[in-house]
Amino acid sequence: MDIEHIRKICVTGAGQMGAQIAIQAALSGFNVALHDVNAEQLEKAVSGNRKHLDRRVAKGKMAAEDVEAAFARLVPTTSLEEACRDADFVIEAVVEILDVKREVFQRLEKLCPTRAIFATNSSYLGNSELASATERPDRVVNMHFFYPPLVMKLVEVVKGEATSDATVALTAEVARRLGKQPVVLHKELPGFLVNRILRAITNEAYFLLENGVASFEDIDRACEMGLNHPLGPFKLGDFSGLDIGYEARLENFRKTGNPEDRPAASLERRVKRGDLGRKSGRGFYDYSTDPPSPTED
Ligand SMILES: NC(=O)c1ccc[n+]([C@@H]2O[C@H](COP(=O)([O-])OP(=O)(O)OC[C@H]3O[C@@H](n4cnc5c(N)ncnc54)[C@H](O)[C@@H]3O)[C@@H](O)[C@H]2O)c1
Repeated sequence: MDIEHIRKICVTGAGQMGAQIAIQAALSGFNVALHDVNAEQLEKAVSGNRKHLDRRVAKGKMAAEDVEAAFARLVPTTSLEEACRDADFVIEAVVEILDVKREVFQRLEKLCPTRAIFATNSSYLGNSELASATERPDRVVNMHFFYPPLVMKLVEVVKGEATSDATVALTAEVARRLGKQPVVLHKELPGFLVNRILRAITNEAYFLLENGVASFEDIDRACEMGLNHPLGPFKLGDFSGLDIGYEARLENFRKTGNPEDRPAASLERRVKRGDLGRKSGRGFYDYSTDPPSPTED
């Protein structure tokens, strides 16, 4: 199968990621079925997409006819059977629970044409864990988008133990057709590329802070002005939510038991106080001032 044979894309899971991936695919000219088990979630997905795209039309960034044409190509449904009918390519974006994803892949196997490729948008699970629930492991791949997928350009494509080179190449081409820039991982590795690099930088930033080498605001400045990062690691932590970073580190520490993986004390104290970053108004920085000011620990 080559890219010209991919006409219909099925996106299953219409949450934060799936909803925008689906409309991006429709805007790129594909026929799209957007599936979710929850009808309300589907309505939310459509109205959310409408809001985003109406804003782009109002700003003159997009033509109203193109947006209407995309909505005409997108069919929301709670029937997986209908969504899978004639699907050439499936993007799975359901909740990050292995058993749920494996069950979805088992159902996809039964309902989709044999030619269809199954791509998972999972943030952490390698596709091999899902491929074994199907009879087409050579056509199962990771296709990892970034939030918000209507805006973020990068897609990580990961080759699993059994993924064929043809599947990797075709998935990268689908990403390009969606207006994205694919990067290919030749092996499965937890965290893929971006989250591994981010974790390495963040771990070093906490090491420097906890050891009294520099203040967090100077570490942020160093990354912004010396490496040209748009946000230093502590500002980025505030932006994504300190609780998210804390929970991920705690989970990793529980797995490895390595004291070096324990969440940093300066992070833990803030999370326990409810200082979660921008969303709570205060994290490493205080967002009640303009510009935000560094907080005392
Ligand atoms: N949010 C992010 O920043 C982000 C970024 C990259 C990748 N991801 C990955 O994308 C996937 C989805 O994440 P999200 O943030 O969109 O989650 P979300 O909770 O917003 O959406 C998940 C959706 O899956 C639906 N769902 C649950 N079980 C289902 C089933 N059996 N069949 C069909 N739909 C089902 C839920 O109703 C919900 O609408 C996860 O694997 C996550 O790791 C998330």
